[in-house]
Amino acid sequence: MPEDEFVVTPWRTEGQIDYDRLIERFGTERITDELKSRLFRLAGEDHYMVRRSIFFSHRDLGSILDRYESGQKFFLYTGRGPSGHTHIGHLLPWVFAKWLQDKFDVKMYFQLTDDEKFFSKGALEMGDATQYALENALDFVALGFKPRNTRIIIDTRNIRTLYPIAAQVAKRLNFSNTKAVFGFTNETNLGMIFYTSLQSAPCFLEDDPVLIPLGVDQDPHFRLTRDVAPKIGRHKPALMHNVMMPALEGPGGKMSASSETGTIYTIDTPAQVRKKIGNAFSGGQPDKEQHRRLGGDPDVDVSYQYLRMFFEPDDAKLRKIHDDYRSGKMLTGELKSILIEKINAFLEVHQARREEARDALGEFLLEDDGNDRLGNGGTDSSSDGNR
Ligand code: TRP
Repeated sequence: MPEDEFVVTPWRTEGQIDYDRLIERFGTERITDELKSRLFRLAGEDHYMVRRSIFFSHRDLGSILDRYESGQKFFLYTGRGPSGHTHIGHLLPWVFAKWLQDKFDVKMYFQLTDDEKFFSKGALEMGDATQYALENALDFVALGFKPRNTRIIIDTRNIRTLYPIAAQVAKRLNFSNTKAVFGFTNETNLGMIFYTSLQSAPCFLEDDPVLIPLGVDQDPHFRLTRDVAPKIGRHKPALMHNVMMPALEGPGGKMSASSETGTIYTIDTPAQVRKKIGNAFSGGQPDKEQHRRLGGDPDVDVSYQYLRMFFEPDDAKLRKIHDDYRSGKMLTGELKSILIEKINAFLEVHQARREEARDALGEFLLEDDGNDRLGNGGTDSSSDGNR
């Protein structure tokens, strides 16, 4: 594909993504400095992922903040298609959602779409997708969410809760809408064609409007949801989009859970991390002498990008790494060692919490009896707080 071409859809990203052009293509809004400051002021704290425009784009974030300022609630929702084990790129919106939840004291739903991955990944059996959903749920819980205000939805287990809402959505979408948005053909299976209705359903679990932190590749689903919302008398979902974490092999494309080597999994050992980062695409020069003379390019360097997007929240430290690498003072091997240490320190803690999460998981899984919404709407608002 020509260098200036790229594809971003929920099931495929390709090429070097130009995020400014993506905002235009998708018709979203940039998160301006003004909006950033407003978010930080209301949250009472900054967040590096917003400061650095890792979350770069939004829909209706302003209205969510307007409501919040006038004392009205919102709730959070995000999700994961369990096609394999969790990798660190998946954690981006979840970590940010946890911060939002803490700062705004709001409810959170997390959807695991085992059905979607059964429909979309030819070789994945439904049972395996459900197993991955339960494994992925551990990574989510390990980030520190509390069962008091958080529920996990697994599509095949919670269809009783999702279906009545999905049906409302499905009735207002037609094949030609979805076909245009996703590039479906007459050969696309019916599960895929219906699927957007299921991903939309959690947006309407509560009467309050929802805010969804998510990878920008998921925007097309919610574009459709937003068209439907007023037709069923509900709020349009608001979104905050994050950039895709680059694959280890370099710029272009996102980390994909299906490419073993392109990805750092949350269950990787320190030795695997060392090896994978050791082989990661770098913006360094071919040899030490040239590197000292010409310097490296942090913009394309995957290790630097991982530090920027996730592993080095301290701006001053990041800036120094950036400048030293750019000037040639820091070698690629040194940059990689910094990242390897950061990832392994993070994973050591994460993996311990992930094991503890096995016992706690039951408290998070939505009970599909119609009485387990977190309150404020749904069929029963008195069910809050008994966990
Ligand atoms: N389709 C998403 C994926 O493949 C999973 C998902 C479901 C999701 N609901 C969501 C992602 C809400 C973001 C927000 O990963």
